[in-house]
Amino acid sequence: MTPNADPFTTLMDLAHGTLDPERTTLERRLSDMAGYYFADPGSTKHAVEPRQGLGPRNLTEPCEGDDPLIYRVHMIPVAQTNAEIQCSTTVLQPGRVGDEYYMTRGHFHAVRDRSEIYVGLAGEGRLVMATEDGRHAVEPLGPGTVSYVPGGWAHRSVNVGRDRLVFFAAYIGDAGHDYSTIAERGLPVVVVAGDAGPEVVANPRYTA
Ligand code: PA5
Ligand code: MN
Repeated sequence: MTPNADPFTTLMDLAHGTLDPERTTLERRLSDMAGYYFADPGSTKHAVEPRQGLGPRNLTEPCEGDDPLIYRVHMIPVAQTNAEIQCSTTVLQPGRVGDEYYMTRGHFHAVRDRSEIYVGLAGEGRLVMATEDGRHAVEPLGPGTVSYVPGGWAHRSVNVGRDRLVFFAAYIGDAGHDYSTIAERGLPVVVVAGDAGPEVVANPRYTA
């Protein structure tokens, strides 16, 4: 065969998720997450957990006019074919909207049977997965976790810690993203801050 690409190496900062060289990055701010949380981010009180090294912040102050960064994706783009493997790091900030921890939008792959590997690098998170017929699974996501996301399982990461959550993900290059199914139906469960820590609860807005 004629090779499709030349070999290359990228340096990954395991604590911060940044890459060298940086190529394409994508940012999601709170305003990009409208409709994804229980509460309307525009009208809710926006709670930010105390961060390491900073004093505690008031958890009930409204952040009117504020549009905080929720997550950033650092990509290593290659051709979007099933001969290649796409990969990226995601850096998900700590914080909550109401009781719900900051999370990614979550998606199915447009080509439904395409699988993915998530490798946790820093922080404390959960990987929420669900099938279209309503089965769900919640796995830990943190330093050293290697999670397999089988084809047909939607996936969303959630930061339940006080510092940034950083993970690496790799998937078959032609998978694509279907965001609309999760945007419309939600996932069967959500991760919220309970009295004793993170709790997985049924999503009242989920439509089967
Ligand atoms: O490939 C993945 O599943 C991840 O790299 C995600 O795309 C990333 O974490 C951002 O999440 P989402 O694409 O759901 O906004
Ligand atoms: Mn994916």
